Amino acid sequence: MRLFIDSANVDEIREVNDWGVISGVTTNPSLIAKEGRNFFQVVQEICSIVDGPISAEVVSLKAQDMIPEAETLAAIHPNVIIKVPMTEEGLKAVSILSKQGIKTNVTLVFSANQALLAARAGAAFVSPFVGRIDDVGQDGIQVVAETVQVFAQHGLETEIIAASIRHPLHVLDAAKVGSDIATVPYGVLKKMVRHPLTDVGVDRFLKDWETVKNK
Ligand code: G3P
Repeated sequence: MRLFIDSANVDEIREVNDWGVISGVTTNPSLIAKEGRNFFQVVQEICSIVDGPISAEVVSLKAQDMIPEAETLAAIHPNVIIKVPMTEEGLKAVSILSKQGIKTNVTLVFSANQALLAARAGAAFVSPFVGRIDDVGQDGIQVVAETVQVFAQHGLETEIIAASIRHPLHVLDAAKVGSDIATVPYGVLKKMVRHPLTDVGVDRFLKDWETVKNK
């Protein structure tokens, strides 16, 4: 499973990119708003840091407005992927953009049926929101698993990005059910690295090394 970072904070992205573990970045209007910076400048800077798919979301609600917005975003860099909401207008936009060769990531997906529609419209990626599904008492990972099963059974090439990841177990569970990608917030990535036994082990090795390093 590939890992993307779900962030618009260039310092977080740069730090984690140096670990050598991320293959792409996803943003959304809320993550962009959190940075309080110019949208296009942020996307451009992210493209200069990570060499992989960089998702930037349209905010228009009508397909006729999404298309020019998407074209402007796609012109920023060849790695820019256009995030489009899972609506009827979004499907219309995805089907047009895919024929133009502009890759899309259909977001705000909450069921395997929505994911199937997005794939049939020609989306390059679909983003089931695991955490938000859990928030309403349903099983977010189960939606990812069903999507993996349906896409595999019918040879659909659209890639699945497990999104709205809230903790390391979401990442592990997404990997176990076969998600192509998980897009992970900075704080969750930091938690994935740490384990108390690793910390204890490093301390012990260094203390023991101190006893022989000058022999
Ligand atoms: O990529 C989608 C993600 O940013 C949404 O996460 O925690 O707002 O549901 P969250």
